[in-house]
Amino acid sequence: MKVVFATCDALPAGDGDDDALVGALADVGVHASWAAWGTSTPADLVVLRSTWDYPERLPEFLAWCDAEPALVNPASVVRWNTDKAYLVDLARHGVPVVPTAVAGPGFADWPDGEFVVKPTVGAGSRGALRVAAGDHETAAAHLAALAAPALVQPYQSHVDSVGETAMVFLGGQYSHAFTKGAMLTPDAEYDESGLYIVERLAGASPSPAQRRVAEDVLDAAAELTGLRRPDFLYARVDLIPGPDHAPLLLELELVEPSLGFRHTDATAPLRFASAVRTALSRR
Ligand SMILES: Nc1ncnc2c1ncn2[C@@H]1O[C@H](COP(=O)(O)OP(=O)(O)O)[C@@H](O)[C@H]1O
Ligand SMILES: [Mg+2]
Repeated sequence: MKVVFATCDALPAGDGDDDALVGALADVGVHASWAAWGTSTPADLVVLRSTWDYPERLPEFLAWCDAEPALVNPASVVRWNTDKAYLVDLARHGVPVVPTAVAGPGFADWPDGEFVVKPTVGAGSRGALRVAAGDHETAAAHLAALAAPALVQPYQSHVDSVGETAMVFLGGQYSHAFTKGAMLTPDAEYDESGLYIVERLAGASPSPAQRRVAEDVLDAAAELTGLRRPDFLYARVDLIPGPDHAPLLLELELVEPSLGFRHTDATAPLRFASAVRTALSRR
């Protein structure tokens, strides 16, 4: 059994976080190797990993996904999840989401306090701008510079003290969690590939309220994409505290999330390997 981990040219073997996966898969009889997305590589399963340069080449990326029948998560999920307007779908479905407006040219309905303007298609915090309350000129200029619809959200300031909690699901089941420090801070720095702002990560034990919201998010995503939860080889639910500290969904990552294997215990790669075997058995 052969699995390809899809990455991008700038990170030929990923960013290091997935290093334990190749061995964990070899232990259960699966050969895994890395290849940059864009060309077709024969494999029983093509697993999206660090394909972090796709936001600038989205049509090409989606066409490549469509042409990879063994892709996980599947192309239909990638199409839905690469446009952050999916947050509006999830909010309509009853999930507690950070209040989100999709802004096109001429948008003027800026939130009252501090807020964020960020691309609808984005990764690694690129293009996300934190705007001071009332600075509509800066916001409008950023919206125009993005030259595409953007998301506008009130800035959830409790993230500055407690950060964001990323909860990882493998094969539809909760596996582990980690926290990420606030990204839109004055000391933010890019990694050397320029593809993402360096993240401050640590293992985490989510609260019951966070676990509940994350489970609800997975159910809602399965319903909206017409899949069942086990069909998601991986999913990452990113939560931040709202004004009353109750968890709100910031992102549901079904395309190429970093899964935080470096920040959790050594059994997580074993669960990933088992989830891959399950995915292989269902093909
Ligand atoms: N509404 C918000 N309130 C507080 N912080 C935010 C908000 N939106 C984005 N951020 C910060 O910016 C980072 C990147 O935004 P995110 O929506 O996760 O996009 P991506 O990770 O896909 O680039 C988040 O990890 C968070 O630190
Ligand atoms: Mg994010």
